[in-house]
Formats: sequence, C-alpha cells, structure tokens
Amino acid sequence: MAAAHRSINFLVIFILSLFSLALAQDENQFIYHGFSETKLDLDGIAKIHSNGLLQLTNTSELKIGHAFYPFPFKFNISSPQSLSFSTTFVFGIVSKTLNFGGNGMSFFILPSKNMREAVAGPYLGLFNLSNNGLPTNHILAVELDTVQSSEVKDINGNHVGVDVNSLQSNESAAATYFSNKEGKNIGLQLAGGDPIQIWIDYNGADKFLNVTLAPLGIPKPNRPLLSTPIDLSKILLDSMYVGLSASTGTRVSDQYILGWSFNRSGQAQNLDISKLPQSPSPPKNGSNKVLDRATVVSLIATVVVLITIGAAVYIVRKKKYEEVNEDWEKEYGPHRISYKNLYKATKGFKDKELIGQGGFGKVYRGALPPSNLQIAVKRVTHDSVGGMRQFVAEIVLMRRLRHRNLLLKTGKATTSTDVFAFGAFMLEVACGRRPMAMEPGEKDLVDWVTDFLKRGAIIDASDPRLEGIYVEKEMELVLKLGLYCSDSNPETRPSMKQVIQYLDGGTMLPNTPPGSIVIGEFTTRNEPPDNVVSFHSLVGSSSYTTTTNDSNLTVGR
Ligand SMILES: *[C@@H]1O[C@H](CO)[C@@H](O)[C@H](O)[C@H]1NC(C)=O
Ligand SMILES: *[C@@H]1O[C@H](CO)[C@@H](O)[C@H](O)[C@H]1NC(C)=O
Ligand SMILES: *[C@@H]1O[C@H](CO)[C@@H](O)[C@H](O)[C@H]1NC(C)=O
Ligand SMILES: *[C@@H]1O[C@H](CO)[C@@H](O)[C@H](O)[C@H]1NC(C)=O
Ligand SMILES: *[C@@H]1O[C@H](CO)[C@@H](O)[C@H](O)[C@H]1NC(C)=O
Ligand SMILES: *[C@@H]1O[C@H](CO)[C@@H](O)[C@H](O)[C@H]1NC(C)=O
Ligand SMILES: *[C@@H]1O[C@H](CO)[C@@H](O)[C@H](O)[C@H]1NC(C)=O
Repeated sequence: MAAAHRSINFLVIFILSLFSLALAQDENQFIYHGFSETKLDLDGIAKIHSNGLLQLTNTSELKIGHAFYPFPFKFNISSPQSLSFSTTFVFGIVSKTLNFGGNGMSFFILPSKNMREAVAGPYLGLFNLSNNGLPTNHILAVELDTVQSSEVKDINGNHVGVDVNSLQSNESAAATYFSNKEGKNIGLQLAGGDPIQIWIDYNGADKFLNVTLAPLGIPKPNRPLLSTPIDLSKILLDSMYVGLSASTGTRVSDQYILGWSFNRSGQAQNLDISKLPQSPSPPKNGSNKVLDRATVVSLIATVVVLITIGAAVYIVRKKKYEEVNEDWEKEYGPHRISYKNLYKATKGFKDKELIGQGGFGKVYRGALPPSNLQIAVKRVTHDSVGGMRQFVAEIVLMRRLRHRNLLLKTGKATTSTDVFAFGAFMLEVACGRRPMAMEPGEKDLVDWVTDFLKRGAIIDASDPRLEGIYVEKEMELVLKLGLYCSDSNPETRPSMKQVIQYLDGGTMLPNTPPGSIVIGEFTTRNEPPDNVVSFHSLVGSSSYTTTTNDSNLTVGR
C-alpha cells in the first residue's frame, strides 16, 4: 500500500513538472532571479552555485560554458511580422589579474544544443574556424567582448556586437550606456566586475534589433547602444534554442549570470534586483583595476617611450661624462677626479668659466662638489696625443717625482711637493706657457719668470693673450707667489695655508722670496734611493725617464 502510494505521489509530481515545463514553453517566456530552481542545460564548465549564481566560466584558460533553455522556441519564419522577442539579463565579468579579463560572453539563438565543436577564446563558444561565417549556422548572437581580436575585426577590447552567423559583427559599439539623467553616453567596463544589465529587443514589424546596457540598478536607458536592422526571418529556423555562452582564452575571467528573463510574445519582464543572488565581488580598487586594451596599449607605449627617453638620456649623459682612461694613467697611478665632477665643477666647461689658455689647453675656474672647493681645471683634448702625454708627464712629474731642482730629501712626495706643483700651475696659468722646457734652448717656466723678476718687470711674464686685462697687483702677486712656491728648497716654500693667506691679501709676500734668486742654478742633492722615481733632463734631446721599482716609463717626443 505504502509503496503504491509513494509511486502515485511520484507520478503526480512528474506529471505536474512536465505540465509546468510545457506551460512555460507554451507561454514562450521565462524569468529567473538566480538559477537554483531552474533546469537549464549546462555544458562545458558552466555550473550553478548554491546561492543561485550561474557561472559560465572560471579563470581556467581556453574554457567554454553554455547554458540553454532546455526547450526550443517556435519562431514562425513564414510570418516575419510575428518574429519578435525580448530578453534581459544581468551579468558580471570578474577578472583577477590587472585588466586582462577574457574572453567574453554572448546571448544566442541557434538551432541545436550540440555545441561541442565550438571553440573557446575569441570564438566565444559559438563557432569554430571552419563554420565561422557560414549562412548554414542560423545563429544570431549578441556578444559582450572583452578582448580585441583582429582576426574577427573587433573594434576594441570592451565592446558589444550583433553577430549573424559569424563572429565578425554586423554592428558593434564600445560599451557605453545612455544616461537618461545626464542626457549623454557614459563609458562602461564590461569586465569591471560590477553587475551590468543588458536588454535585447527585436521587433519583427520594423526589423530592428536593439541592444541596451546599463550598470545594475539604473533603469533601462531611453536610447539603445545598438539599433541594428536585421531580418530574422532570413536567419532563424522555425525551432530555435536560446542560451548564454562564455569563453576564456589566454585571458580569463569568472563570468556570471545573476538573473535572466526572456519573452517570445511581448516585452521581457524587468528583473527584481532584490531577488538576484549576491553578485561576485568586483576586483579591488588600485592593483586590480580593470583597464581596457586601449589603456594597456597606451600604458605600454608610455613605458616604451619612457624607457627610450631614459636610455637616450643615459647614453647622452654617459657620452657627456665619458671617461677616457688613457694607457698612461695606469702607469701614473690612480689619482683622478671623475670627468663628471669636473664637468659639473666648471658648469660644463662654459666659456664664462674660462680663466686662461695654457700650454696645451684651456683653463677653467670651477667649484668641486660637494665642498665647493675652488679649483682650476685644465682641459686637454685626449686627441692631441703628444701634447697630452707631455702635459700629463709634467703634472705627474711635478706631483710625484723629484726634479734635479727639487723642482726632495726623503724621496717621498710631501705637502711641499704639492705646493711646488701649485706654484708651477699658477705660473702656467698666469703666463700661458708650459712649465717645462720641451725644445732645445727653451727655458723652464720658473727660470723664465725668474728672468723677468730679475729685470724688475715680472708683470711682463703674464700671458700676452690676457691683453693686460687684470689687476696688476694681483698678477704680480700670482707670479711672485708662483715662484715662491717653486723654490728649489722645499723647506723655504710656503705652506698651503700661507699661500691662501697671501692670495687673500691678508699677508704680504716677502719682497724677495727666499731662494728665488738661485732658481735655475742647480742645487745638487744626494742621489735618490733606488726605489724612488728619478728624473733626468738630457741636454739637447729632451726626454724624460722615470724609474720606479715596479714600473719603467719613458715619455718623450
Ligand atoms: C574551473 O572549472 C574546472 C571544471 O570545474 C576546474 O577543473 C578548474 O579547476 C576550475 N579552475 C579554476 C581556476 O577554478
Ligand atoms: C506561420 O505563419 C503563417 C503566416 O502567417 C501561418 O499561415 C502559419 O499558420 C503559421 N504557422 C504556425 C505553426 O503558427
Ligand atoms: C565546426 O563546427 C561544425 C558544426 O558544429 C562541425 O560540423 C565541424 O566539424 C567543426 N569543424 C572543426 C574544424 O572543428
Ligand atoms: C550582416 O547580416 C546579414 C544578414 O542579415 C549578413 O548577410 C551579412 O553578411 C552580415 N554582414 C556582416 C558584415 O557580417
Ligand atoms: C529600437 O530603438 C529604436 C530607436 O530608439 C526605437 O525606435 C525602436 O522602437 C526600438 N525597438 C525595440 C524593439 O525596442
Ligand atoms: C511576456 O510578455 C507578456 C505580454 O506582454 C507578459 O504578459 C508577460 O509577463 C511577459 N513574460 C515575461 C516572462 O517577460
Ligand atoms: C573604488 O573606486 C570608486 C571610484 O573610483 C569608488 O567610488 C569606490 O568607493 C571605491 N571602492 C573601494 C572599495 O575603495
């Protein structure tokens, strides 16, 4: 008895559900707020969550999801006037990664639920490579495309299109909605994560297919985004299925449907937002902000331009501050101020900073960062090979070596050698002559200036190119101080501190710098120890040989 009763119950329920399905079909309409209680046919990875959310794809690559209303609708194509339909649904496309949601979704009307041959990616689970574009497809689709595919001539990566038998849209438009309030179109991000409502209406009388979008909660805009002339009687068959599809490609999104209503015989009922399942959370602001392809392209372009500019600036700066490490530098030791710092110190070797023209090049005033130490910089082009080598040889010899006139007791460079070098440098700048004799019969600069001093006309030793444009007293001071610093006896040279006091005018220079009279008359000193650089001036041939315990150097002409 009990068993029979139960089977009658089952039968009643079975007949009732058949009846209600038949009813729905007869009425040519359905409305779903969430999909928990529905019997949609799903394929691919489509699934219905317990809260009623229909998920067509997740974020796995190259996936498809379809949801079909299980029964076909009757479209009487011999009566084109009656071929109207209306549908609206709410969708959410949520992409995790910054702006690369994909591929998109579609609403479709087609003759068969067998879509196994359709492919993912840009084909949106609607077509494959061999049937795309064939009139035998009998497919009408409205695509919500979030990836620009050049193969199907997409206009951008955020558009809506009307497709007839092909993914190459008959008409498409960038996603926007018409704001009734503001009276203008407002941009919309399909893959922005926020739920969006779409309305698709076809009227067999005027044969226009209208597509309208708006963010969920905003009433249907007065103006459709697309209003495409189409004669559905030439496309559809008498019996057609309606459904929704979505696909992912290399770009992926979670693609959801929250609610859906469809009507074959009148305006689709609007959805009640309060009955819709909780929409999936849109990506967080900031890091997960969704950008469309155009933005990404312009971002990439900006980055490329910036990198190019950066590289160009780097190359120019590198070139500007390029250091030429001459082979002689290795031999003379590591003391160097970077060219960049010298460049900065002299404000880029500006003419304004030019203070003289020495033997082989121009001399500039400068302030050496970071202490702003006042310096004079002699610029010698490294192309003037002989001149360069000679100049450097002089400087190095002055700095480190011992001249027969020292132009040393310990054999080590001391502060007095620096003072000597400074003296020679002052003379060189003031006189515009090289400090050391290079030609047979030429006098060393110190001897040369001393001659003027002896004649009581030291001022005449000044560089004629200065054309007398200087304060005579200062020139005299520099020349005399130069000689003083170059005194043959290191002990009688002033200290650097004294030099500064003289230059500042705080202390008067002694009238006859001690030892200056004997400059030029050789003061023989003890032979240097073996490991000390020595310097010989060979009468008539002018070559310099220095010898240290670890290097052997010959500089000459
Ligand atoms: C997507 O769904 C398929 C089928 O349910 C599953 O195998 C896959 O792991 C899912 N991918 C993600 C990223 O959740
Ligand atoms: C289809 O339309 C034609 C023309 O209006 C009509 O004669 C025919 O009965 C219709 N067929 C059905 C099945 O409704
Ligand atoms: C494309 O789809 C059609 C229709 O489903 C099928 O007949 C055909 O074999 C498919 N072609 C390829 C290359 O998958
Ligand atoms: C637009 O649709 C018609 C059918 O109404 C079709 O024949 C035509 O090829 C389509 N045009 C494009 C550009 O897809
Ligand atoms: C489509 O839009 C046009 C222009 O707004 C309108 O005239 C027409 O009635 C609309 N058709 C449908 C079916 O909504
Ligand atoms: C379909 O249209 C008819 C006529 O306008 C209306 O009475 C009915 O409520 C609609 N049904 C749905 C589900 O939209
Ligand atoms: C995200 O940004 C929008 C506008 O930029 C703002 O209205 C919204 O409150 C922000 N949401 C969060 C969670 O910060």
